[in-house]
Amino acid sequence: MKNYKIAVLKGDGIGPEIVDEAIKVLDAVASKEGFNLEYNEYLIGGSAIDVFDNPCPDETIKGCLNSDAVLFGAIGGPKWDNVEKQKRPESGLLKLRKSLGLFANIRPAIIFDELVNASTLKPEVIKGVDLTVVRELTGGIYFGEPRYKDDNKAYNTMIYTRDEIERIAKVAFEEAMRRNKKVTSVDKANVLEVSELWREVVEEVAKNYPEVELEHMYVDNAAMQLVRNPKQFDVILTGNIFGDILSDEASMIVGSIGLLPSASIGGKVGLFEPIHGSAPDIAGQGIANPIATILSAAMMLDYLGEKAAGDKIRDAIKQVLAKGYRTKDLASFDAKEVVTTTEMGSLIAEHAAN
Ligand code: NAI
Ligand code: MG
Repeated sequence: MKNYKIAVLKGDGIGPEIVDEAIKVLDAVASKEGFNLEYNEYLIGGSAIDVFDNPCPDETIKGCLNSDAVLFGAIGGPKWDNVEKQKRPESGLLKLRKSLGLFANIRPAIIFDELVNASTLKPEVIKGVDLTVVRELTGGIYFGEPRYKDDNKAYNTMIYTRDEIERIAKVAFEEAMRRNKKVTSVDKANVLEVSELWREVVEEVAKNYPEVELEHMYVDNAAMQLVRNPKQFDVILTGNIFGDILSDEASMIVGSIGLLPSASIGGKVGLFEPIHGSAPDIAGQGIANPIATILSAAMMLDYLGEKAAGDKIRDAIKQVLAKGYRTKDLASFDAKEVVTTTEMGSLIAEHAAN
């Protein structure tokens, strides 16, 4: 039987509650699909600060590097808000991403028909949306040197190399091959030289994927199109700063933060986490929505080559939502029964095991 080693980083706040539900669901499909998942837990964020005085201990990095994938909850909370900056929980996640070489962030915005009313956009605009944003995560203006600030002047530098563009473009085209075979590359080529190079390299990579349709779009237009007609998109490929903004915009099409998964890949081992944080305001109350984390676990299975098992999880979520089960955050959207975090996890696990 195939065996996958999973590093489990539950983190803080609702992190442990939602990751436990994802594991429940993973185990339900693993036994059905004939593979085994071996979990090893490591500390990250505030809980690692409490024990090691370090938000991302070496042991955690080593454990992740020795695994096939990382399942991550969320980190942070008021308890650690006054810790010095480089020791804050959030810096632990940045260090982890860097140590694992995760240069590609993938954020799908999937609409569940049962929840079209949860979006602030009109149901007819969002029904049937199935898009994903592929954002470059370790280059561009957030990391470019030189950078500088004094009282009268400040600057940052946007840099991308051919290699950096090529590798993120490949990730986007591979995604498109698994999906609906369209890539929209977003840039600002009418103003930025970086974007000119971006376009050249993306065009070259596209030649290796003749089945995939490629279009280029300026970022200002892309921001408009995302709310005007999001159905036109399949894979949106973009750099770090534009991707930061567009991926948040795209995620809000769906309406609820408790539904949105993400994958960070590119290095030796992929990391899978919900896009939301540790929600300290609801931690320990059993009301957090575990679906974002369960969908992240499904993306992890796709990544491990167990796509059929990933699909089973996504189907199970659809069935459970169609039956009207909702966690508290979605209670006002066609709920027949409001359930707790663990009840939602158990329902999805039961349906996924069928
Ligand atoms: P947040 O995403 O934790 O919460 C925002 C709002 O959404 C809250 O009202 C929360 O209750 C709600 N919410 C979030 N996830 C939910 C879920 N699964 N089910 C139901 N409701 C949910 O963002 P916030 O409040 O800005 O940050 C809280 C802490 O999380 C901070 O320490 C922040 O730094 C950290 N954070 C960590 C991230 C990570 O681990 N990747 C990402 C974002 C924030
Ligand atoms: Mg952001």
